[in-house]
Amino acid sequence: MILVMGGAGYIGSHTVKHLLDNGYKVIVADNLIYGHREAVDERAKFVCADLLDKDSLDNLFKNNQIAAVVHFAAFAYVGESVENPEKYYYNNVIGTLNLLHAMLTYGVKKIVFSSTCATYGEPQYTPIDEQHPQNPINPYGRTKLVIEQIFADYEKAYGLKYIALRYFNAAGCSADGKIGESHNPETHLIPLVLKAIKGERKDIKIFGTDYDTPDGTCIRDYIHVEDLALAHRLAIEKLNSYCGYINLGTGIGTSVKEIIIAAEKVSGKKCLIEYVERRAGDPARLFANNTKAKEILGWQPQYTDIKDIIQTAWNWELNKRY
Ligand code: UFG
Repeated sequence: MILVMGGAGYIGSHTVKHLLDNGYKVIVADNLIYGHREAVDERAKFVCADLLDKDSLDNLFKNNQIAAVVHFAAFAYVGESVENPEKYYYNNVIGTLNLLHAMLTYGVKKIVFSSTCATYGEPQYTPIDEQHPQNPINPYGRTKLVIEQIFADYEKAYGLKYIALRYFNAAGCSADGKIGESHNPETHLIPLVLKAIKGERKDIKIFGTDYDTPDGTCIRDYIHVEDLALAHRLAIEKLNSYCGYINLGTGIGTSVKEIIIAAEKVSGKKCLIEYVERRAGDPARLFANNTKAKEILGWQPQYTDIKDIIQTAWNWELNKRY
């Protein structure tokens, strides 16, 4: 059985569905602070558990035959991490240490972990490969980097087998419309653009138009959440023969303005725009070199056209279940 910590969240819930569709037995643990109970596939076993509650973690491992862990459970608001770093270090780092303690106590040595391109910080070159220096510029990114370093130490000392997946910008929703992206508060570009198009918000604010990019707006690498889910399954299957970190992105950069144009095409409606100042800490361009994911995992993103990614998000936005 695979334990998915944080399996009621956005990327977690899509991974749970993908694992179940591919014949895995799954147990989901989530404290439901940000996760949605409705997002958890009914074929999975569900336990409400918090990483900071050592007893509930102990019970999870004592009562279930867990072969490997996929660990999504973390706070992930960059801005909040700057204002309240304690919340982030405590939950993300101490929480992961508690999880590793329970794993090692019960002899579970395999983990796939949600890391982020935020561990690289301001890019020195693009596309960003895994050799790029890691100098995160906010506490959120630093929590993820510290955890990667803990894994490396635990590998040497205790034989932990880990793969840390460094995501670029997760986007889109399940193609069947059953689960999708639902953050509160929502801060991500694509859902905000779609809400503006729908009339749920007045407009979309573009954070800066004077970046050194062709249209002056920031460029990101938007990767479909089902392609992320697939990579997690492949990573689980690779844990016996590979240990380390892997970028997950499409390798394609898309600007903020291009996202808005694509969303207008998909929905057939106009999006009202307000141009505002740059947001602090936003690099001009971030996109991945994904050669390692292709070589090590045999992974290939299925979604390479941003319109197809946005179409799945638009379908969800029109028929959200939670
Ligand atoms: N943006 C706007 N207006 C908005 C929201 C976003 O112009 O209302 C712009 C941002 O400035 C950025 C781009 O849209 O250039 C994407 O912004 P998101 O907030 O959607 O995503 P980020 O690239 O900032 O952050 C994502 C994840 C973080 C992670 C980071 C790096 O959400 O958790 O990638 O990995 F830390």
